[in-house]
Amino acid sequence: MTYSFDKIIDRHGTDSLKYDFAEKIGKPKGILPLWVADMDFQAPPEVLEALAEKSRHGIFGYSDAVGNDYFDALAGWYADRFDWHPSSAWMVKTPSVVFAICTAIRALTKKGDAVLIQQPVYYPFEGSIHANGRRLVVNELVYQDGKYSVDLADFENKVVQNQVKMFILCSPHNPVGRVWTRDELAAMGDICVKHGVKVISDEIHADFVYPGHRHHVFEAIKPEFSDITITCTAPTKTFNLAGLQISNIFISNADMRKLFKLEIDRTGYSQPNVMGLTACRAAYKHGAPWLDALNVYLASNLSLLRGFLARELPFIRLVEPDGTYLVWLDCRALELSDSELDELIVHNAGLWLDPGTMFGAGGEGFQRINIACPASILQNALERLKKAFEI
Ligand SMILES: Cc1ncc(COP(=O)(O)O)c(C=O)c1O
Repeated sequence: MTYSFDKIIDRHGTDSLKYDFAEKIGKPKGILPLWVADMDFQAPPEVLEALAEKSRHGIFGYSDAVGNDYFDALAGWYADRFDWHPSSAWMVKTPSVVFAICTAIRALTKKGDAVLIQQPVYYPFEGSIHANGRRLVVNELVYQDGKYSVDLADFENKVVQNQVKMFILCSPHNPVGRVWTRDELAAMGDICVKHGVKVISDEIHADFVYPGHRHHVFEAIKPEFSDITITCTAPTKTFNLAGLQISNIFISNADMRKLFKLEIDRTGYSQPNVMGLTACRAAYKHGAPWLDALNVYLASNLSLLRGFLARELPFIRLVEPDGTYLVWLDCRALELSDSELDELIVHNAGLWLDPGTMFGAGGEGFQRINIACPASILQNALERLKKAFEI
C-alpha cells in the first residue's frame, strides 16, 4: 500500500492548536506553524476505519479494554520493535503522558523533593515539577562538535548534592534528537540505582528512529532498572492521535504501581476515552506498514532540510537527530539575541517554531522545527526563512 504523505490537508477551522489559535495568542495572520509536536498527516487508514466503525455504532458509553486484545496489540508492537516484553499486569492507562508524569511525581515524591531533568528538554517536564511543588535540578546536556551527550559526573554530583528522588528521562530526547545508546542509558540507570532515584522514562518518541540507531527501552536494560522505573508510552505521537488522549504506562514494581494508581484515583479519572482506546488498539495492530513508510518520508524531509540549510542558510546549523521529527537548529552564529531571533522568525519569516529558550538551560540561540508535514509545506517554510534573511 502507498500512503500520500505529500497530500496537503487543510487543518484550518478544525479547532487545531497548531493552526487555529495563532492569532488568538498574538501571532501574525498567515503564520505557518511548525511548532507543536503533532503531524500534518492523517492517521493510518485502519485507525480511521476503526474510529468510523465506532462512530457508526453511535454509542459512546463508559468503556475499557475488557479482553486481552488491547494489551496483545501493544505487546506485539513492543516485541517486534524493541524486543520488549512487559507484563499486562504492569499496565496503567492514562489520558496522556504529561498526566502520568505529574501523577508519578505526586505519587512517588514529597513536596519539596528534588527532581532532576536534562535541559534543554520538553518544557512540561519543568512545568510538572514546579506545578507539583517539587524542586527542579538540572543536569544540562553537553553540546560539543554538533552532538549532545550526558555529563555523567555532573549527573551524579547533582543527584548527591540535592538528594534527588526522581529523574525524568526523555528517551529519545526532545528537542535535541538523541536516541540514547544502551551504554548511555545503563550509565544513567546505574547512578539512579546507586542513589535510590526513581525514574520516569518518557519514551513517547520511541517509534521515530533514523537508520543506524536503535531505541532501547530503559527499564529492560537491567532488572534493577525495572524495579525503579515508570515507563511512559503512547500511540499518540507515533500515529498522530494526540487529541484522542490515550497513553499506556508500565510499572513493574507493585508498590510503585499501587501508589501511582491511588494518585490517579485522587484525580477522579477512571475509564479511558473510548475513541482513544479504539484508535490505539487499531494502530498497534495494523499501523506498522504506515509507520515504516512515514519514517522513510521523515528521513527524506530531514535531507530536504539539511540540504536547504547547507546551501541557502549555512549560518543555521542543523543538529543531526538520531530520531524524532523535531529538529533542533543551532542559530547562534547569527549572533542575535533570543528576542531578535524570535522577531525575525515570527514577523519577518512568518514562521511559528518553538524558541529554544522554552526548553530551559542551554536553549538560548536555538529553535525547534517540526518536520512532520508534507514536503511542500517544509519547502515553503524554508523559502520564508531564506526571504527573511534577504530583507
Ligand atoms: C517528550 C514528550 N513527552 C510527552 C509529550 C506529550 O504527550 P501527551 O500529549 O501524552 O502528554 C510530548 C509531546 O510533544 C513529548 O515530546
